[in-house]
Amino acid sequence: MSETETKKVTVDADTIPIFIMGKKYEVPESLTIMKAMEYAGYKYIRGCGCRGGVCGACSTVYRKPGDYKIYTGLACQTVVEPDMYLTQLPFYPALRADYNFAELKGNPEEVFSLYPELFRCVACNACTKVCPMDVQVMDYIAQLKRGDIEAAAETSFDCIQCGLCASRCMGELPQYHIAQLARRLKGAYLMPISEHLNTMVSNIADGRFTDCIAKAKAMDLETLKKTYTEREMEPATGEESWTPKEATCL
Ligand code: SF4
Ligand code: SF4
Ligand code: FES
Repeated sequence: MSETETKKVTVDADTIPIFIMGKKYEVPESLTIMKAMEYAGYKYIRGCGCRGGVCGACSTVYRKPGDYKIYTGLACQTVVEPDMYLTQLPFYPALRADYNFAELKGNPEEVFSLYPELFRCVACNACTKVCPMDVQVMDYIAQLKRGDIEAAAETSFDCIQCGLCASRCMGELPQYHIAQLARRLKGAYLMPISEHLNTMVSNIADGRFTDCIAKAKAMDLETLKKTYTEREMEPATGEESWTPKEATCL
């Protein structure tokens, strides 16, 4: 290893002080909060899922010295800063309405009736400010108040259900549960019906694949792997008119 490389490793290994739930730890400055907590001796048995910024399990709140602001972030994505005071919110309780989804029709009135607290929103925008996914939370709440389920589903699409918005809401809304209902309603009732999906579902119900599945289940592991790897594959260039020669099990 050259001297330059040695120096770089030394710099990378520099530590900074952080405070986890009020206790001071020295941790390498390049770590994410999640890795820093593990470095400090914490073991995640919950409050950690994907480690990739998509599951919403690692909501973290922190403050910086001399700064009045409360900061939020995902522990698996946010890099530590000197003297930050942090704690995690592995779960934030928010009331989820009880409903039988199959009985809904996709009307705005259903959202209003299941979540009347929608109208408690005071448009303070605190929810948008804390969202680690930069979702325009206040906007999707406003869209829902106007009855625009489709727009709210679109605006909230990147929500990972971390719950941070609910933690800061002056109107005590469970924003992320309401947005999830909007996305479900859009997917089930407001989007165009996919005819080929319907055809496939009825093919399954009619037992078209029963023999194929039984045959696959009876294979030993090696035969199953071979069958999978040697299957006829769609060309990489993607031709619209392509169909497999053997389509019995498709
Ligand atoms: S909308 Fe709320 S629950 Fe969804 S990612 Fe943003 S802060 Fe988290
Ligand atoms: S934090 Fe609550 S009250 Fe404020 S804008 Fe968001 S939903 Fe409305
Ligand atoms: S562990 Fe999944 S978002 Fe951080």
